[in-house]
Parts: sequence; structure tokens; C-alpha cells
Amino acid sequence: METPKILIADDDKKTRDFVAAFLSYKGYQVYQAFDGQDALQKIETHDVQMVITDIMMPRVNGLEFIRQLKSLRPEIVTIAYSAFANNEMTANLLKAGAFFYLEKPFNLEELETHVKRGLEHQALQSKSFRSKPCIKNRALLNNIIGESEKMLSLFEMIEKVATSDSTVLIQGESGTGKELVARAIHDLSNRSEKNFVALNCAAIPDELLESELFGHVKGSFTGAVATRVGRFEMADKGTLFLDEIGDMKANLQVKLLRVLQSRELEPVGSTRSKKVDVRIIAATNQNLDHMVASKEFREDLYYRLSVIPIMLPPLRERGADVPLLLNSFLEKFNRSKQRKVQGFDKQVLEILGSYDWPGNVRELENLVERLVIIKGSGVINIHDLPEKYRGGRSTPAVHGEHMINLPDDGFCLNSAVEEFENRLILQALERSGGNKKEAAELLNLKRTTLIEKLKKKKLVYGEHPVSP
Ligand SMILES: Nc1ncnc2c1ncn2[C@@H]1O[C@H](COP(=O)(O)OP(=O)(O)OP(=O)(O)O)[C@@H](O)[C@H]1O
Ligand SMILES: [Mg+2]
Repeated sequence: METPKILIADDDKKTRDFVAAFLSYKGYQVYQAFDGQDALQKIETHDVQMVITDIMMPRVNGLEFIRQLKSLRPEIVTIAYSAFANNEMTANLLKAGAFFYLEKPFNLEELETHVKRGLEHQALQSKSFRSKPCIKNRALLNNIIGESEKMLSLFEMIEKVATSDSTVLIQGESGTGKELVARAIHDLSNRSEKNFVALNCAAIPDELLESELFGHVKGSFTGAVATRVGRFEMADKGTLFLDEIGDMKANLQVKLLRVLQSRELEPVGSTRSKKVDVRIIAATNQNLDHMVASKEFREDLYYRLSVIPIMLPPLRERGADVPLLLNSFLEKFNRSKQRKVQGFDKQVLEILGSYDWPGNVRELENLVERLVIIKGSGVINIHDLPEKYRGGRSTPAVHGEHMINLPDDGFCLNSAVEEFENRLILQALERSGGNKKEAAELLNLKRTTLIEKLKKKKLVYGEHPVSP
């Protein structure tokens, strides 16, 4: 590997020489700058991967320097140090993009640890930078992490379709990044200066969805106390993101189709139509193909929406991204939660690399957040992992008075298992307040599997039979 190059910026020659001597001794190629302005000039001519900078410096100070550096060369990692920083300064530094803040005096070993981590982080980052062609795109796509073949072709696809104005249908399992991709498409499009309006079709009661989409005029229905603009109009000249489109009811599917065809809409209760110029991006974690086949989703609407179909691969099909995602989220949560977790050991990386991630990136992100908060510092090892990642699935506690003993004369296993299953399903529904998606997540089931089970079992939750 090439020798990593580091630039040290400090107006105090003694400290600068001292840090430089130590890092040279450790085998790094070190350059020096005597303040922020000098440093900005030196990064033009020296291809460094890291900058270590003091905060209090004449001309351009450390904070200002980091801000400028991040806009010029976002891939360079920065470590800042100072004897005078307070919480506000630290927060500003991290916000400006500093990788780590060290309080003076610090010991050299501590510095070395952060230098190593920073360079590892840089190496991972620059890989994903390299994969993205032009400067504008690389900054905008940068929050979508991935370097697997599948993600690289996704990045290419996003760039190609962004400026096309065509309707996009994003499909993929829950937590694969559909919303993230929708935003990236908007941000890279010619509509980026206008609104990106998101509407989750599953989160709004069916009877209100129409007025939410198209707006309504005062008095058009009970509760319509004032005229209201719908999401379509809010998104005029911009992008409308219709999330969970598979949950839209048939009558509304017809109305949506009409608007997509005519580019005109009528607010609820109005007879005057309005022109709208909106780019539609729709998303769903359901299988629309199947829904079309079973007549739950209109075929004509499906074709209208899927002019450009984008399929987000589940995380288990892009294992190469797991280490990158783990490390990126580790850095993110170390910063935002002010923790100093150094990484994952080999065994953990192996286990998580072959885990099947039913909750996809969202599950991984949540796991890392939890690990970082609980661990605080050091390296995450197998004992830090929740049971279910360590191999066997966690099983519900069965103990004390609930301990099951096989009766002397035996009993019916099938009905006992059935009973056990029913109780856990109802508990999950109770805990999620009846929300089937959340309940399914608690049980590590697909939403559709849970719904099927509920139907088959004719289970009743609350007063009503549980409906899909
Ligand atoms: N490639 C990625 N890089 C970084 N973060 C990601 C990536 N994919 C997903 N995430 C993160 O995972 C979480 C879930 O992503 P998002 O909400 O876009 O998923 P989704 O596919 O819309 O899920 P759902 O179907 O449940 O709505 C978000 O916090 C998002 O930032
Ligand atoms: Mg989503």
C-alpha cells in the first residue's frame, strides 16, 4: 500500500514539529502548514488523504479551514485539536465535517489511534467516491453507501434517469433505501430547486387520501373547513414521491391514473381542473406484478408508473456492502452519540457478513446505533451482538409458571404450537398498536406472511377481525 500522506496545520511550530516527527517516525509522509490559508494552498499541490489541524490559527482558523476543505476536497479526513474548545465549538467542527476532535494536551498514542481509524474511513470513502463520476453527483450520491456491483449499476441508473422527467417506480423490500434513492433522483434532476413532496399512501386513511393528493375546496365534505392545496400542487414543477403505492385503493388508483394521463387534476368538491407539472416517483415493498395478476392493482396504472422500473436489491444479495455500511454507520453514530467505538472484530464482521438481514439496511443501521450506544468505546465483539445475530434465533422466555412440561399422558403438539404462535402474534399486534408492518417486524416475518397467517387463523385483534 502507498504511504498515507498527512498535512499538519498549526501556527505553533513546536507542536507542529512534534506531531510531524512522531507521525514520520510511524511511517507516514508528513507535510506542514503554518495556518489555514497556507494549508488550503498546500492541499492543492500535495495529494494528502488526511489533515490534522489546530483550531486557533491566524488568517484562516481551523473551523473555517475545515469548511473550505470539505467543499474543495470532501474525501480528505480531518482531525482537529485545540486547548480551548467548548461543546459548541466541537459541535460546529463535527458539523463542518471534521472526523474527530481531540482536546489538547493529547497523548501521541491517542492521536495515532484516531489517525489509523481516520485513514481506514478515508480508504472506504474514497472507494465509493471513485465509483461516482462527476463532482456534483458524487456529493449528492454520497449518502447512498455501496460499492457492490449492484449498487454501482444503481448509481449509474440514478444518474441516467434523474434528468429524464420520466415516471419511476422503485421496488424493493422494506429498508433497502427506496426513499433515499427517490430523493437522490430528485436532487440530481432539473427539478432540484423545487419541492420534493413525499406522501405515504399507507399512512393516510383511505377516505382522506384523495383530498390529501388533489386538495379540496371548503365545505366539500364534513371537516373540510377551509380550501386546501393537495400534494400534487405542492409538488408543482418538482417531484411527488408516492410511497407505498401498493396500498392505494382501487377507486383512487383510477383517479391517479387520470391525472397522470391528463396532467390535470380536480380538487375534491371542485369542478374546475388545474394543470400540474409534476414528476412522479412511486415506491412499494409489495410485489406489484403479483398484485396486478391478482387484480389488486390496476394494470394500466402499473404500466404508467413503471416507465422506468428500479429494483433495489435486498442487502443479503450485496454482502460486499455490509462492511462498508457497518463502518459508515459506526462513524456516523460515534459522532452523533459522542462515542468512541473503534470497530468490529473479525468474527463479528464474518457473522454479520453472512447474516440475511430481513430488515435490510434499516436493520443494520439500527443494530449499529444500538451497539455504539451500549458499547461506548473499544472494539465490538461477538458478546456485544444480540442473540439473534449470534446464530440461533432468540426465543421468547419460557420460564417460571409458564414453563411447559410434557404431561404424563402426552398431548397434541400441533395444537400447542398453534396456540403458542397465536399468542405471540397477538402480543406483537398489541405492542404495535395493531400496525401489521411493525408487528411483522417484531416477529421477523414479512408483512404479507403475517397477513396470510392472520387470515388463515381467523385471528381477532381488538373488536374487529384483523384485516389486511
Ligand atoms: N445504501 C444506503 N446507504 C446508506 N443508508 C442507507 C442505504 N440504504 C438505506 N439506508 C438507510 O436505511 C434506512 C431505510 O431506508 P429507506 O427509508 O430509504 O428505506 P425504504 O426502502 O424506503 O424502506 P420502507 O419500505 O420500509 O419504507 C434509512 O435510514 C436510510 O438512510
Ligand atoms: Mg420508505
